[in-house]
Amino acid sequence: MKLEIINSQIEAGQKGLQVFKKAIQQGAQVFGLATGSTPISIYDAITQSDLDFTKFISINLDEYKGLSNDHPESYHYFMNKYFFSKKPFAHSYMPNGLANDLKSETKHYDQIINDNPIDLQILGIGRNGHIGFNEPGTSFKSQTHIVNLTDNTIQANSRFFDSIDQVPKQAVSMGIASIMKSKEILIAAYGKEKAQAVKEFIEGPVTEDVPASILQKHPKVTVILDQDAAALLSKK
Ligand code: F6R
Repeated sequence: MKLEIINSQIEAGQKGLQVFKKAIQQGAQVFGLATGSTPISIYDAITQSDLDFTKFISINLDEYKGLSNDHPESYHYFMNKYFFSKKPFAHSYMPNGLANDLKSETKHYDQIINDNPIDLQILGIGRNGHIGFNEPGTSFKSQTHIVNLTDNTIQANSRFFDSIDQVPKQAVSMGIASIMKSKEILIAAYGKEKAQAVKEFIEGPVTEDVPASILQKHPKVTVILDQDAAALLSKK
């Protein structure tokens, strides 16, 4: 893993932009995208750059069950706001959390991922070590699946909703095996509340109890951290 410790969100954005630029120079055409607060500075840097995505494909990690695409907390809304309205792709795929048959939606999404192998996947990490909505205990062999969100994640995400009761209890998420198939991964984490998860995922044992720890086995991972998120690492 390549570790980049940064001092500001602006610097994080620039580091992330460099990773995207290099991947594109090397032929990347399919981008796995994440939502949440972490990628925003990277998306800002990208959308203010001269990069052109109109011939490329994006595939998002996850979406809540049951939120309409124009719900301000849906991941569709987030992606339009921070990325697609400024830099459109030839095609952007996101799980349809409104599908009547969510089980067949997961199969359909796996087909999309198989047909469009991801060149560069961007990830954030949850305080409990989750990636995508793959909570602790999720099989490393998992493909796209329906997730029951843990109380920890519902609590963490409630900051974006008027009340905790409004946070959806389920989501559709790309699985860990699908994430690991990406040719390259960029993961970022900021703030002291991520420090424990960061330590466990980089220096702890590879275990399904810490979903991000599987990234130790991936051949090409860049990790962008601020000082707070890196605080518990023994090697920097
Ligand atoms: C979002 C996602 C999640 C987040 C994680 C961190 O698409 O897949 O795994 O990356 O929950 O969220 P933030 O960045 O808001 O701290």
